[in-house]
Amino acid sequence: MPEGFVSAAERAAFIAGLPKAELHLHIEGSLEPELMFELAQRNNVAIPFASVEEVRAAYAFSNLQDFLDIYYQGMGVLHTERDFYDLTAAYCARADADNVRHIEIFFDPQGHTSRGVAFATVIAGITRALDDARTTYGMTSKLILCFLRHLSEADAEATLDEALPYLDRIAGVGLDSSEVGHPPSKFERVFARAKGLGLKIVAHAGEEGPPAYVHEALDLLKVDRIDHGNRSLEDTALVKRLAGESMTLTVCPLSNLKLCVVRDIADHPLKTMLDAGLHATVNSDDPSYFGGYVNANYLAVADALDLSRADLVTLARNSFTGSFLGDAEKARHLAAIDAYA
Ligand code: ADE
Ligand code: ZN
Repeated sequence: MPEGFVSAAERAAFIAGLPKAELHLHIEGSLEPELMFELAQRNNVAIPFASVEEVRAAYAFSNLQDFLDIYYQGMGVLHTERDFYDLTAAYCARADADNVRHIEIFFDPQGHTSRGVAFATVIAGITRALDDARTTYGMTSKLILCFLRHLSEADAEATLDEALPYLDRIAGVGLDSSEVGHPPSKFERVFARAKGLGLKIVAHAGEEGPPAYVHEALDLLKVDRIDHGNRSLEDTALVKRLAGESMTLTVCPLSNLKLCVVRDIADHPLKTMLDAGLHATVNSDDPSYFGGYVNANYLAVADALDLSRADLVTLARNSFTGSFLGDAEKARHLAAIDAYA
């Protein structure tokens, strides 16, 4: 056992009680197979699986695109405001069980509007569940609209137009989907417009794509956070820059394992990132597809990389300092972590 823990059970209990924020979560990626079946039935949508077990068996991926194909198919069961409410409410309950006190969650409107579901329907269901989570659990939240990078910049511009009436409920914009071949530079203009509207900026970069994509996210999109960022470690100057700018990386260990970004969880670069002074955080990405919510992600790396109590506290602190909360709220959460630790 590393410093401070006498057993694996004690370490698990420490992680469970640690106040945390989750900064990298695709709400559509929290669709559990049980709910997928329920919504398929409710909406009369055919799905190519006979049982929950069959769905889970199909979740074997060899890269990001393998996963995305099944992820876009899965979200096809979401149609009504109630569906988006149920999806989001289920995730909030799981996050609360992991003592996640603040969430900043992504949604992919183009994955729904392309199927004829209105933007208003998507946002109404998600925000109603987030409002209820605040009342029920005291959980605070921010919503981040992601543009699908395999689609055109014009499509992203049209999506930003659709979001304009709802900017009071949208904290930022992000960039997700198939990374390689769709560099940040493809979206420079739409992100400049979003920034001008006062929105925060994040982007998936360096998950499968090269360090050059991380440079572009910083220089061209002017991101406030990098989602993943793993491949930054291949570029020493970039690591220095990210550390120097206190840039938060939203790292997703079980996602990296399931999408073969790392061969083995023991090869995960999280500890290397922390030791290099990078502001890494631990997140679940698409927990239904990758086998675990936030605490399972903390546990996997704590176990495989022998993380110390101090490392775990740093990760939890980074999750709040890297959030889009105001200074007073950040200070309140950091004080709660210090009191706990
Ligand atoms: N969409 C949902 N999860 C994603 C991931 N890990 N990378 C890129 N796009 C995504
Ligand atoms: Zn992601």
